Amino acid sequence: MKGFAPVFEVQLPKQMGRPLSEEAVCQSYRLLAAVLKRNPEVKGLYASSWYHDPAVAVINPRLRFLNELFLQNGGLIHRLDTTPHCIEDALLKSTTRQRLYAEGKYLPTSYARYWARNAMLAWAEAGAGFTTQPCVGAP
Ligand SMILES: CC(C)(COP(=O)(O)OP(=O)(O)OC[C@H]1O[C@@H](n2cnc3c(N)ncnc32)[C@H](O)[C@@H]1OP(=O)(O)O)[C@@H](O)C(=O)NCCC(=O)NCCS
Repeated sequence: MKGFAPVFEVQLPKQMGRPLSEEAVCQSYRLLAAVLKRNPEVKGLYASSWYHDPAVAVINPRLRFLNELFLQNGGLIHRLDTTPHCIEDALLKSTTRQRLYAEGKYLPTSYARYWARNAMLAWAEAGAGFTTQPCVGAP
C-alpha cells in the first residue's frame, strides 16, 4: 500500500435476511474503484471482518469468493484476533456456525484485508468478476 493513510474503510451492515452475493459485493467494489480513481491520494482499501477467516469458507463454501478476490487480484489478508463483537457478528445469522462454536469446533476470528490502489484499479479496469464470472454491469 506504500503507507497507512488515507485509505477507504468499508463496513457491511447486517443484511436483514439477504444473503451476501458475489454480484452485490463486486458492484460495491466497482463503485469504490471509480471513487478511488478520482482521488489519487487514497492508497487503497482496508477492512477487517470475520468472514475473511479461511475457516468461514470451509463452513460455508458459498462465501469462498470473498477471499478468492483478494488472493487472485493482488490483495492481502491476515489474521487479527477474536473479539466479542466478532463472535456476535459471525454467529448472528448462521445456525451452523452457532453449533460449531458451541461444540468448540469454530472460533470466530477477525481478519484484515488490504487492497492496494493499483491492484484494485487493475481489477476494476479489467472488467472481470471476482472469480470466473463477469460482473453484472461490467463494462
Ligand atoms: C455477512 C452476512 C451478510 C453473510 O450472510 P450470508 O451470505 O447469508 O452467509 P452466512 O454464512 O452468514 O449465511 C447465514 C445463513 O443463511 C443461509 N442462507 C444463505 N443464503 C441462503 C439462500 N439463498 N437461501 C437459503 N438460505 C440461505 C445459510 O445457509 C446460513 O445458514 P446456516 O449456516 O444455518 O446453514 C451475514 O452473516 C450477516 O449479516 N452478518 C451480520 C453482519 C456482519 O457480520 N457484518 C460484518 C461485520 S465485519
